Amino acid sequence: MSQTVTQTEVKVDPPATLVLKSPVQASEDEYRYSHLLPVFSQAHYPPLTPFTHSDPGLRALEHPNPRAFLQNATSVVEITPRLGTEVRGVNLAELDSNGRDQLALEVARRGLVVFRDQHDFIDRGPDFYKAWGSHFGRLHIHPTSGHPEGYPEVHLVYRDANSTFNFEISDSITSTVWHTDVSYELQPPGLTTFFLLSQPETGGDTLFTSQVSTLQKLSPPFVAFLRTLTAVHSGVEQANFSRSGKRGGIVRREPVEHIHPVVRKHPVTGEEALYVNRQFTRRIVGLKREESDNILRFLYDHIDKSGDNQARLKWQPGTVAVWDNRVTAHSAIVDYADSKERRHGARITPQAERPIPALDGLKLE
Ligand SMILES: [Fe+2]
Repeated sequence: MSQTVTQTEVKVDPPATLVLKSPVQASEDEYRYSHLLPVFSQAHYPPLTPFTHSDPGLRALEHPNPRAFLQNATSVVEITPRLGTEVRGVNLAELDSNGRDQLALEVARRGLVVFRDQHDFIDRGPDFYKAWGSHFGRLHIHPTSGHPEGYPEVHLVYRDANSTFNFEISDSITSTVWHTDVSYELQPPGLTTFFLLSQPETGGDTLFTSQVSTLQKLSPPFVAFLRTLTAVHSGVEQANFSRSGKRGGIVRREPVEHIHPVVRKHPVTGEEALYVNRQFTRRIVGLKREESDNILRFLYDHIDKSGDNQARLKWQPGTVAVWDNRVTAHSAIVDYADSKERRHGARITPQAERPIPALDGLKLE
């Protein structure tokens, strides 16, 4: 099943284009990345259409040394045994097509690869970001987030002393919300690139977890049951958040819901990963409400508390993180709000294949 959700909410009338200009940024002209501040245009986009995704990581499998792109690195350190690698001494911006293919494979295997000292990459600007991301898939345009003027493919996160344009639930005891990005799409993202243009002195780290390891901790009979299940992922709540006037108050594409397997298989590595998340997964198809609620709550709790599956990224100026949304989940940490410092990040989000069920022949409707 794939369906467009009909909205009954009253639309908030947004300004023609909301351009971020807050008093605290009186000297915004001096901000190095002022041209990348978020705007919220009133553009309206049609529904996304399916496309054929060919994963660049597949090409790297044919290469005699799929890690050749790391051969000049000065440091390659595993952040945890199963998730995350930190690299120094490689200029991402200079990777050729072969190198980018190899990167896709490495990220698929490690879940997260963090590159330090990438000022060259970050300063090449939004045309370069788009060209970079297009190597890995069709660029996703977010339905509700702010983007730099003229670059809707560049998803921005933004918070400063006066405003936030992030998806933040203010009445929760924690800012931790584990998710994989826009999993409500028919073809959710694969390899994803994110970096900060401005960051607080301390705080604003990002948590990651391996959904491969999350799955592997479960007992074989339970995993066998999960492989038979599908779940509904929904963009409705995120759209309603914007329609309530938050985050720029704009919904540029009507929200959708799609059904995905609860256990998906990576198209390149063949690894199986748990594919439910608290932010976007709503119910398991075919189960009674209490069954679905309890199984999802158990899985979310398992994701939340399994520090042994997780890595924590402390950002430094020039850090570029690349992760595979198919085999990981992540959460922002908003622990820097009191400092009133600016955190301004940009994400390039290529879409990948429709999630492949771990169980052959599983019906996705
Ligand atoms: Fe995210």
